[in-house]
Parts: sequence; C-alpha cells; structure tokens
Amino acid sequence: MEKYLINPNQKISKISKDIYGHFAEHLGRCIYNGIFVGKNSKIPNVNGMRSDVVNALKEMGIPVLRWPGGCFADEYHWKDGIGSLENRKKMVNTNWGGVVEDNSFGTHEFFELCEQLGCDAYVNGNVGSGSVQEMNEWIEYMTFDGISPMAQLRRENGREKPWKLKYFGVGNESWGCGGNMDPEYYGCLFKRYNSFVKDYDPENRITRIACGPNVDDYHWTRNVMDKVKHRAHGISLHYYTIPTGYWHHKGSSTDFDLNGYNTTICKAYRMEELINNHLAVMDSMNPQKSVKLIVDEWGTWFDVEPGTNPGFLYQQNTMRDAIVAALTLNIFNKHADRIMMANIAQTVNVLQSVILTEGEKMLLTPTYHVFKMYKDHQENTLIGSYITTENIDSKEDGKAFPQLVESASVDENGVICSTVANTSAVKTAKIKCQIADTKVKSIRAEILTGEIHAKNDFDNTDEVKTAGFTDFRTLKDGFSATLPPCSVVKFLIEK
Ligand code: AHR
Repeated sequence: MEKYLINPNQKISKISKDIYGHFAEHLGRCIYNGIFVGKNSKIPNVNGMRSDVVNALKEMGIPVLRWPGGCFADEYHWKDGIGSLENRKKMVNTNWGGVVEDNSFGTHEFFELCEQLGCDAYVNGNVGSGSVQEMNEWIEYMTFDGISPMAQLRRENGREKPWKLKYFGVGNESWGCGGNMDPEYYGCLFKRYNSFVKDYDPENRITRIACGPNVDDYHWTRNVMDKVKHRAHGISLHYYTIPTGYWHHKGSSTDFDLNGYNTTICKAYRMEELINNHLAVMDSMNPQKSVKLIVDEWGTWFDVEPGTNPGFLYQQNTMRDAIVAALTLNIFNKHADRIMMANIAQTVNVLQSVILTEGEKMLLTPTYHVFKMYKDHQENTLIGSYITTENIDSKEDGKAFPQLVESASVDENGVICSTVANTSAVKTAKIKCQIADTKVKSIRAEILTGEIHAKNDFDNTDEVKTAGFTDFRTLKDGFSATLPPCSVVKFLIEK
C-alpha cells in the first residue's frame, strides 16, 4: 500500500490556467482542414472555423493558443495574411511538406478563432526572416486603438477595435529553424526587436517571451538570460518525448512493445529534470525570479502514420500518450510557482494532438480526455502533496521512473482536486491517502484507463473515454483506492 499525503494547509502557488495551453501551427492538417475549413465548406462552421472542433476545445477548457508556429513563424510575413482573400499571397511552406500556403488563415482569422474558443492569444513573431519594422507594425495592427497607419489598415480590413494580445514570442527556436543563431547574438536581437514591441494598451501589457533552450542546452539559457535580463517575462523551453531518441527513426505511435512503452514514459519524466536545471540557471542570473519558464512546445513525437505526408507530422494517440500527458501536467502543476504557460504540440492532427479529423469526421484522443479531466486544476491553488512509489525499470534507458505521480490543488470553495497517474503498464497500485486537518464529506472520482495501445480511431471513436471511478473507499480523513495499470484518476474531495 503506497502512502499519499495531501496538506491543504501548505498553499504553494496559483496554478495558471495557461499551463493547459495549446499550440497550432501552419503545419500539415492542423490549421487547414483541422481547425479552419473556410466559410464555404460543407463541414459545419462558423466563419470558417469547424464547429465540432471549436466546441470540443471549449469543453476541454482551452485557455490559450499559440500561433502561427513553430518553424513556420520565422518565415511568416503577416501582411500576406490580411485583406481580401483573392489578393492574399500564395507561398510555399518550406518547413512542412513544401505545400502551398494560401494565407487564407491570417491575423483576423486567428483572433476570430480565439474569440470563438474564449481563449487568450499567444502570437509568435518572426525574428529569423522578418524585420524589426514588420514586427513593430504587426503589434500596432493588432493592439493600437488610436490613429495610425496600421490601426487604419486594420479598420479597412473590417476590424474596428484592437484585439487583446496576451503573449508575444520574439522568435522561435532561434537556435535552429529560426535562424541558427548563437545565444549571445539572439540575446542582442531580442533586445532590439523587443524594443519595438510597444505596449499600446497600458491595461493589457504584452507578456514578452524570449526564445529559450532546446532540451538541455543550459549554455543557451545562461547566455540568453545574461543579455535579456528583466526585459523578457518568460523564456521558452522546447522538449519532445521521442522514444528512440533518433530523429530518423522515432518509433511508431501505435506499434510498440513494453520496452518502447517504458522508454517513452521514462523520457517524458525527463521534463522534471529539465525544468529544475533550467530554473536553477535562470535563478542564478535573475535571483528575484521575475523571469518565468514557459514550455511552449512539448509532447510525444513519433514516426508519421504510414502512407501520410512525412512533412505533415500526423500521428495516432494511445493510452501511452495519455500517461505522458498526465505525468507531464502533474509535473507542471508542481512547478506552478515558476511555470507561467505550457503549450502541447499540436492541437489537431499534428504530433500529440487532442483531436484528429478525417474529412468531416472528428475524434477525441486519449490525451484530450486527460486535459479535460485536469481542467479542475486551472486557477486552483497548488497544495502540498507527496506519494510513496515503487520505481519501474526502463531497460533501454538504463533508468528507472516512478510508478505513481500526483498533484493536488484546492479551489476557492475548498474542494480539493487530486490527479494521480499509475504509469505502470502491468501493475495495479493500492494507495491510502491522508489529508491533513480535514474531515472528508464526500468524494467524486473519474478514471481514464486502458491497455497501453488502446486508442480511438474513426471506426471506434469511443474505445478510450473517461468513466466514473468507484474502486475507492472514503475514510474520515482521506481515502484508499486501487488504481489499475496504465490509468489516470481524478478525485474531487469535499470537506
Ligand atoms: O511542432 C513541430 C516543430 O517542432 C515546430 O515547428 C518547431 O518549433 C519544433 O522544432
């Protein structure tokens, strides 16, 4: 029996809802077909946005959306995507399959999408191939309410009032597809570009994000922090879980053995080490801790589904992905004091998606269900918690990982939300939870579980779904429960 302790007296920090953020790039079938089908499509839509997808994302509680990339952001020239559709430039999407980008989804469409979703906007600017003037004018176009050339142009294009821009990224992966820069050089460029990202609306100041490290590049973090200092509110880490660790052969999303499962889970757990180490570097440069960490690209990355365009990064999603999502979100919750936002890659039809589409059909992936279950944590207060656990050997990696991973938070009415994942593919876990200074009145619980390969596909969209969980006993100061292998359980505890 593992011991699980929750201490509601230890209030640690608010869990920003933006930790549950998403990312949508002009990549494969994410934006086009996945989210945006155009007004004239037979697929039900509102102003071109698929109604089924928008409704599902709203129900999941999407808080913030990052756009237009990714690598695409650093070749995106925003003026190509405004004005009448017929006059929008057609260009080649050099990063993703060499397909034609017709710019029919641009700035107005992005903000329309955010308005329909009721979520905040995170726009990523172009440092790699764009000019300072271009970035400066984009900010003016999006956020200025007065008399100016860009505000006037926006009005001519049908939008009187500026939009609310919460986050702005100054470059993406500037160490790679965004310009192959050295950190010192990028740090100087950040200062230059960022100077022209103006705060036109003093009540809605823009949260500025500097391009942070790839995986464990602590040299990048140190040197960018050294230049950027307090000028950035956040610095973004990118970390993908790739089971083999090789880009040319990442492994199948559905066809894997127990070793492949364990290696994936073990690699996903690496997020904790990366967060701790990058924060240590950041805090040594910025002891007042004003610069937060953002993980604006994370998730599993497998080989594309056989027969699909290799440049489209379309992969299936199984219970293995659900466990990766659950453990990662628990890790983010536990670092809520320093993590401002995270964005899983990518919303629809790309990498670890929450939604897949095929023509007019749509399905919710196991990862979707985890995000929806965890919605209760958004804007709650993280409270102290600890669970004892066995470790599971990951043979290929030579490393072990915890079987159980949890986090707990409390809402303004005192309801405790606890999410626990049993990451073992084969072992059941018995837990006994004790909640300090608490007399439990009632508990509601929900579970997502299945065999590690279980998935939803277009023949069976409901193979993996959440269900009420009853295999627990309410105790006067907590509960005991039996968690099946490969499961995620949420307990909502009223006192
Ligand atoms: O998410 C896919 C790609 O991964 C993004 O475009 C890029 O930023 C990262 O390398």
